[in-house]
Amino acid sequence: MVIGIGEGENFIASDVPAFLPYTNKALFLDDFEIAIVEREKVKVFDFEGNKKEKKVHMIPWSITQAEKAGFKHFMLKEIFEQPRAIADTISGNLSWFKGDGLEIENFNKVQIVACGTSYHAGLIGKFYIENLAKVPVEVDYASEYRYREPIVDNSVLVIAITQSGETADTLAAMRLAKSKGAKTLAICNVIGSTATREADTTIYTYAGPEISVASTKAFTTQLTSLFLFALWLGRKRKVLNEIETEEYFKELMKVPSKIEEFLNREKEEENVKKISLEFYKSSDALYLGRNVNYPIALEGALKLKEISYIHAEGYPAGEMKHGPIALIDESMPVIFVATESKLKEKVVSNIEEVKARKGRVISVINEEDEEVKKLSEFTIEVPKTLEFLSPIVNVVPLQLFAYYIADFLGYDVDRPRNLAKSVTVE
Ligand code: M6R
Repeated sequence: MVIGIGEGENFIASDVPAFLPYTNKALFLDDFEIAIVEREKVKVFDFEGNKKEKKVHMIPWSITQAEKAGFKHFMLKEIFEQPRAIADTISGNLSWFKGDGLEIENFNKVQIVACGTSYHAGLIGKFYIENLAKVPVEVDYASEYRYREPIVDNSVLVIAITQSGETADTLAAMRLAKSKGAKTLAICNVIGSTATREADTTIYTYAGPEISVASTKAFTTQLTSLFLFALWLGRKRKVLNEIETEEYFKELMKVPSKIEEFLNREKEEENVKKISLEFYKSSDALYLGRNVNYPIALEGALKLKEISYIHAEGYPAGEMKHGPIALIDESMPVIFVATESKLKEKVVSNIEEVKARKGRVISVINEEDEEVKKLSEFTIEVPKTLEFLSPIVNVVPLQLFAYYIADFLGYDVDRPRNLAKSVTVE
């Protein structure tokens, strides 16, 4: 629980963005504290009735950041903010990345815990850390980790990925790991939130306040942070040399302008709208991707279902034959993430399999990919980047696709039914 300190008014909320239109001063309550909140004052006590002095945090977000700035919905605004958010996340983390490093040592295994979209970021983080730093990684839904009696001790680094820093399951998973001696690292967007106060170290994402329930810019900035972390660790462990690290870093630096280039192409936005108009009455959708883009299939499906209430599933494309292929018919959209990659030819043969069953294929491709264009009913073209970084670019058209479908259906995009921005209860 967090208390917003206003002028002649105070607020009680689950997280900061809820009261950001009114104040950016926040007082975070810890467990076993009681607050008396009045119009002019706030007093905090422990359970014995002793008064406690609490710090008021100035959240470095402006009140105007909590406005729609001419966009129809916060979600659309936040999708378009991604180039800025990613660039800020790179520059905001340069001090440890290029300079002093992070204070986490002596671990030989990483466990990532998170929920929802942040979990999908964790799945991609596993590719980054295992490939670039050669440290084994497990990724768990926080709600499973906390009850599955994980094998965790002081040789493990547990990374909790959470936009809000207040997700109950993620906090519980982190606390469990800590109680077993693990070191903990939070990747978090909200300064002063519970995750950042309890973790040994925090890497901040500089997404700015994310108001829409559907997470967009928090996700791409989490991927940016995870990539930086993996590069830093790879360099520290001498898996990468200085030149390799610098080359990867340079490619990361180009990602914001690549996303900007895509978002600024009116033709491409119109194209996504046109595809959304074609499919907004669908009852189901299947998303497929491979390797580092398999979690993007999961994320595309999650975005669609949470704001448009259309049933959607994400699968690794290679798993198609083991079940989902039975779903393919003449009406269901099958969305492929088919940008350049080492397994691209395998994705192409998966597309051919769908086509052979008269499925309706939409593919996210790199520019001028005539081969996949010919096979697909619709394509969305995104700029090319390194395969590792492609999820950060590829997710953007899928966010837009979900957004336009929900908007065509007339739903309240920013506040989907039954969902809360921060899930602070189990
Ligand atoms: O604040 P967190 O990152 O811990 O939130 C985790 C999930 O609740 C969140 O990502 C949720 O899945 C979003 N609604 C997805 O868009």
